[in-house]
Amino acid sequence: MKRMSQAILVTGGAGFIGSNFILNWMKGSANPKAGPVVNSTAAVINLDLLTYAGNAANLTTVERDDRYTFVRGDICDAELVGSLLKKYQPRAIVNFAAESHVDRSIASPEEFIRTNLVGTYMLLEQARAYWGALDEADQAAFRFLHVSTDEVYGSLRPHDPAFSEETPYAPNSPYAASKAGSDHLVRAYFHTFKLPVVTTNCSNNYGPYQFPEKLIPLTILNALEGKPLPVYGDGKNVRDWLFVEDHCAAIRTALENGRPGQTYNIGGNCEQANIDVVTQICDLVDEMRPLESGESRRRLITFVEDRPGHDRRYAINAKKIARELGWKPAERFESGLGKTVRWYLDHGDWVNSVRTGAYRDWIKKNYAARTQL
Ligand code: NAD
Ligand code: TYD
Repeated sequence: MKRMSQAILVTGGAGFIGSNFILNWMKGSANPKAGPVVNSTAAVINLDLLTYAGNAANLTTVERDDRYTFVRGDICDAELVGSLLKKYQPRAIVNFAAESHVDRSIASPEEFIRTNLVGTYMLLEQARAYWGALDEADQAAFRFLHVSTDEVYGSLRPHDPAFSEETPYAPNSPYAASKAGSDHLVRAYFHTFKLPVVTTNCSNNYGPYQFPEKLIPLTILNALEGKPLPVYGDGKNVRDWLFVEDHCAAIRTALENGRPGQTYNIGGNCEQANIDVVTQICDLVDEMRPLESGESRRRLITFVEDRPGHDRRYAINAKKIARELGWKPAERFESGLGKTVRWYLDHGDWVNSVRTGAYRDWIKKNYAARTQL
């Protein structure tokens, strides 16, 4: 019987949150306030299909590091996943791989079902086979950490209490439904097979390396380039923003100390209406790159036709992870947003490298057909 190594297998590690997670992990997370200090000698295997949202260049600073291995491949490829588990004998799988953009799931849901639902099932099956052959001590130490979303809980009214781990699932978009389905599978593998899983459901993330189809990076770049800033509907939809480094620290915490079979909600305690997020970005861009004319970027704000089925409000009650595991978000929205705007201003090459023809086609498809309100 082979013994487990200290390696972790990360899926979707070339995307926004996954690359932040790997970069922080490999730094050894020197700041103990930002979550547990990980074993920085442990290897990280990053399995990523490099879809439009994945970018191996996010990880250039670690690619020559002996501890880091990149494998381009699909989580739906059972043979590949099985061979990686056999070869590296990881102590954990951290599953970030997903199709993650709600608007794309409305335009074409199929890929969401394939990766988010079928892919998670394939990973679970391979994990179960691998884990089943470990000795008792390794079985107890192994973790399958599934990264999910608050969108599985549906939409809140203005005065509803925030989502807790007890809130019933009520997904509204194909994206949310595919993630909800994956969460149910993860849960079932614990109850039926005793696979030691932990699920985290987090709110909207923001920070460096986010693909510029999502609200915050799209607004920053459009503001910089003097393009319209599309705000869906009346702009009063509320999201609970979480700085990506806080999220990565929470995942490390859940991985090290989370109880198998449990779910943990992770949020930033930071509810903001979309229109307020967009105006704050305008003001930050004005401050960092003032226009000669002295005009404000706020004049670029353009209300456009709403997203079908647009969830009105998300808010996370993160008391369980605070109480049980001692994690709390450290970043304030104002400072986190400032860091994020600065990062996009300073990383023009990264921005150019991700805005390929396929990206431009998506922007045309999503916004050209939307009437201005
Ligand atoms: P992302 O879209 O930026 O990255 C997803 C990554 O997964 C990409 O690198 C992509 O190439 C890879 N991928 C896609 N399909 C794959 C497949 N079949 N096999 C292997 N790799 C594949 O997503 P993100 O924003 O980094 O989100 C990561 C996880 O966190 C997702 O599971 C998402 O549902 C969840 N989440 C994200 C947010 C957020 O605000 N971004 C909020 C809550 C939960
Ligand atoms: P998004 O970043 O797509 O995340 P999610 O849909 O997962 O919450 O959107 C965040 C909020 O911003 C959401 O309420 C939709 C809104 N939004 C706009 O108003 N305009 C845009 O161009 C985009 C992409 C999103």
